[in-house]
Amino acid sequence: MTDLRERTYVDGVFESMKFADKREGYYRGLEEMKGMGYPTEDFIHHYPCFVGHLTLARFLSLNECYQKTLGISGHIADVGVYKGASLLYFSKLVQIYESTTLTQVHGFDWFKGNAPSVDEPSVLPGSSAESYERVSKLIEAQSLQHITRLHKVDLTRELGAFFEKHAHLQFKLAFLDTGTYDVVKASLPYFWERLTKGGIMVLDQYNTEIAPGETKAVREFFEDKGCVIRTFPTGWMPTAYIVK
Ligand SMILES: C[S@@+](CC[C@H](N)C(=O)[O-])C[C@H]1O[C@@H](n2cnc3c(N)ncnc32)[C@H](O)[C@@H]1O
Repeated sequence: MTDLRERTYVDGVFESMKFADKREGYYRGLEEMKGMGYPTEDFIHHYPCFVGHLTLARFLSLNECYQKTLGISGHIADVGVYKGASLLYFSKLVQIYESTTLTQVHGFDWFKGNAPSVDEPSVLPGSSAESYERVSKLIEAQSLQHITRLHKVDLTRELGAFFEKHAHLQFKLAFLDTGTYDVVKASLPYFWERLTKGGIMVLDQYNTEIAPGETKAVREFFEDKGCVIRTFPTGWMPTAYIVK
């Protein structure tokens, strides 16, 4: 039910201010809905009644990118899994649109939450931590093990060994949703190298003040590559994508 995502916002500056006047009303409405006696099943089966439009915009953007990669060879990489929202969303898109392909959705996370540097004060240390076991159970509860693969890895240190072991892996879509400089800096080159030409890399927080490290790492990596960094005119976060 969290619409504005569990992170601290830097009040008084740029992007965080855009919806500042909506925040109070949104959370008031959320509390009201929680007290209206709906059974849990209603929140699942009738989710458009409850979910906020920014969360919806997020998943429309991810779907837009997914649709653009249909017909391009490769799997999907969900880099930064947390509770599994984007991971399981992509898995369900594969279920719906690719009933006979071998496309898999690979989730990468160390399941310890965020570890920001001193230059990233708006990212809380340990925020977005979830257990590997609970995400695995969620995948199994929905019988999605044949599509969804979960990899417990430190993205700053272990991707070299991972891709040596799984040398065949190629992606058509990579969603980078980790936000901090060290993680984006270390992981971006691996996923870009393994992105099929025509495939898409999606960046969750490029050009937002909550994740200055992501913008910095993206600028450094793409500086001399001549890529166009696009955005979603009807989106929220993710804020950017690049077609290879
Ligand atoms: C914002 S959350 C991902 C949200 C998810 N994509 C979604 O749509 O709900 C960021 C994730 O990055 C993970 N992460 C941060 N640093 C990491 C690292 N060094 N290695 C692996 N995962 C890391 C955190 O554990 C967290 O689950």
